[in-house]
Amino acid sequence: MALVTSTEMFKKAYHGGYAIGAFNVNNMEIVQGITEAADELKSPVILQVSKGARAYANHTFLVKLVEAAVKEHPDIPIVLHLDHGDSFELCKDCIDGGFTSVMIDCSSKPFEENIAITKQVVEYAHAHGVVVEAELGTLAGIEDEVVVESGKESYTRPEEVEEFVSRTGCDSLAIAIGTSHGAYKFTPEQCTRNADGILVPPPLRFDVLEEVEKRLPEFPIVLHGSSSVPQEFVKMVNTYGGAMPDAVGIPEEQLRKAAQMAVCKINIDSDIRLAMTGNIRKYFAEHPDHFDPRQYLKPARQAVKDMVAHKIVDVLGSNGKA
Ligand code: G3H
Ligand code: 13P
Ligand code: ZN
Repeated sequence: MALVTSTEMFKKAYHGGYAIGAFNVNNMEIVQGITEAADELKSPVILQVSKGARAYANHTFLVKLVEAAVKEHPDIPIVLHLDHGDSFELCKDCIDGGFTSVMIDCSSKPFEENIAITKQVVEYAHAHGVVVEAELGTLAGIEDEVVVESGKESYTRPEEVEEFVSRTGCDSLAIAIGTSHGAYKFTPEQCTRNADGILVPPPLRFDVLEEVEKRLPEFPIVLHGSSSVPQEFVKMVNTYGGAMPDAVGIPEEQLRKAAQMAVCKINIDSDIRLAMTGNIRKYFAEHPDHFDPRQYLKPARQAVKDMVAHKIVDVLGSNGKA
């Protein structure tokens, strides 16, 4: 199977009550871990590349890694998506350079400007058989160079979504309902503590999602900032020399609920970083004399694979849907 767009995937996910995992890729081990898990579980998958990933690994290297995954795993549909494109030029570069899906994120710009740039990207993308994700509302956290302070984020306003989608022609819409980028999604003050002393974040705004769903029937909704920041990895990082106090993510039950609603794409990056970093730290602590990257990257890649498999089965529900 060649690279595909997300059109069919989202249609089936919407009606099937599940979501497709969109995982950020930055190197070979990450691409391998994700796609091996997806293949074993017969799950469709979206591999996404940010502007920062392109700057780190180079466009061609990333495209070729994803093409290698497509060749190695011919039985599952794979989308190659630009994450948080911030300009027409960047989106055009990716459309011309083999991506099957792009995100134009002008959510921090005024409504009319967001519409104008998104529309321009949609026209170019559709003329080249590529689909477009856009965004309304802003998430807290860090995405590439844009930092939105906690407390300055804004939920999506449901009364704007119909006009935005009909005027831009976008194919999916990322909305802000309380998720947030990075490993520190909420301050301890924003959370409560459960009986075990673990921070519990404020619940997602399902009322906003429901209202959007009502106004945009059968339209695929996207959730960014959806890492759960598993405490097992935070603990591993902290046990082996790291210092990540109070890292907290989105509870998986809430993401599962969103996946059963109009949410068709769930973005996960920080959990990949944590799985790799925790395991690399552990490896070095246990093997201080080792220096072969193939040795310490092996358990890290396996941890990415195991984590993605867990997400596919227990959070997304996309297993067996390829
Ligand atoms: O939302 C952003 C993703 O986590 C990508 O992060 O810009 O550091 O590659 P990055
Ligand atoms: P996390 O930081 O929660 O993994 O979010 C990733 C994301 O939204 C990528 O676009
Ligand atoms: Zn994002």
